[in-house]
Amino acid sequence: MERYMVIVTIFCMVITRISCCDIVKLTFPSGFKIGTASAAYQVEGAWNVSDKGENIWDHWTHNYPEYIRDGRNGDVACNSYYKYKEDVALIKSIGFDFYRFSISWSRVLPNGFANEINEEGIQYYKNLTEELLANGIEPIVTIYHWDHPMILEELGGWTNELMVEWFADYARVIFDALGPLVKTFITINEPSVYCGNGYNTTRHSPGKVLENMGHYICIHNTLKAHATVYHMYDDEYRSEQQGQISLTTQCDGWYLNDDSNATLVDQAFQFNCGWVVHPVFVGDYPEIMKTRIAMISELEGYPFSRLPEFSDEWVEYIKGTADFFGLNHYTSYILTADPDEESGIYNIDSGIIKSVNTSYPVGSLAWMSIAPEGFGNLLRMIRDQYDNPPVQIFENGYCDLGELDDYDRITYYNSYMTELLSVINNDNCNVVRYTAWSLMDNFEWSDGYTVNFGIVSVNLTDPDRARTSKLSTSWWRSVMETRTVQDVPTSV
Ligand code: GAL
Repeated sequence: MERYMVIVTIFCMVITRISCCDIVKLTFPSGFKIGTASAAYQVEGAWNVSDKGENIWDHWTHNYPEYIRDGRNGDVACNSYYKYKEDVALIKSIGFDFYRFSISWSRVLPNGFANEINEEGIQYYKNLTEELLANGIEPIVTIYHWDHPMILEELGGWTNELMVEWFADYARVIFDALGPLVKTFITINEPSVYCGNGYNTTRHSPGKVLENMGHYICIHNTLKAHATVYHMYDDEYRSEQQGQISLTTQCDGWYLNDDSNATLVDQAFQFNCGWVVHPVFVGDYPEIMKTRIAMISELEGYPFSRLPEFSDEWVEYIKGTADFFGLNHYTSYILTADPDEESGIYNIDSGIIKSVNTSYPVGSLAWMSIAPEGFGNLLRMIRDQYDNPPVQIFENGYCDLGELDDYDRITYYNSYMTELLSVINNDNCNVVRYTAWSLMDNFEWSDGYTVNFGIVSVNLTDPDRARTSKLSTSWWRSVMETRTVQDVPTSV
């Protein structure tokens, strides 16, 4: 009954927003690519096999298990290091066009630097890439998905500007080894998430709480590293390898409610999405971030802004370093201005309080409400702010508690993809790729194995990590066969 209500609620939300004259085509345009994704630390396991070095997530989970909800780690994860052929067979059986996976930096460069290349590590990624290609699946490579070698963290990690060079050296090894086979590279996954969680809180490794500025410094160096690698690809690899390259950014959506107004929406958008994307698509940090953080830093007595400044040279160098807009999106929030600011108290740099609208269905993580309306708002904002760039969605998905009859996950995908097709057809949003996160249940960072995003189930206590289909596995198979969003099956 409860499930029936969720489906009815979402259906009504979608229908009431689509006006009489909108065209609702549920078939994807020709050429539109649909696939699935994972990340090295979340699935590979084999954490100390064949010379792999220790990375910051190995270190964090081994030494501070209290920061992981179930105290577990990615030592074995989904065992994909050994089971990659089975993973590829699963992807093929569902019919996905591509598979996005990431490289473990310390598997390739065990001590972090490019003076020692681990050929066995490289070989693993070559094998995976070749297996995908042999099965007609496009490989998409994320060069960095949060797991840099521990030695680099001991040297300051993303707060040390030398990371820019170390990252470029590492990326060069990847382009040399995989570039002939891979035509889409993502330099870096979700800067605002790992910088915010890892350098301003203990939510993610390395868990450094750095004077409310570690996250700003981390993004500053990350953007320089991304741009350096983009230019390196452009100058040295593109003409021969003929690929495309960008970064992917996490952007929240929002609901329009009584408290929302255009200024509030823009402020929230710039502090969340614009922080990373504005320097790349427009140039420099968004004005509102520069102004507010400088003003609050001054009130706090700092002789400088906690948001570092780019030189004019860096502004120019970072601007334009994207062949597409990489977007990761999960959910939306109600936005409210922090009421304390009326009395001159600035608690939050963004000035925005975000809350989950619990009248929407919520998944197994408290932040995960099913709110497709916010997704549409976000895609129209990206269209308007950045001159309608080609958007490649690299993550979108739903967490539950691992049910095999995962009706809620199907409801999520059904409603988000319906929204997506609506903005493509009716609002001229230039979205060309969609990625379902994730292929299979895996290690969900600070939540360990307590929540599940997979389209395929993994027995995460069985030493063999057996895979089992869910209801959404067959739902996705039908989507891929017809290239049309399917109805949510009726539960029995
Ligand atoms: C993203 C992250 C993924 C995955 C997902 C689900 O932020 O890139 O690795 O964990 O969230 O929460």
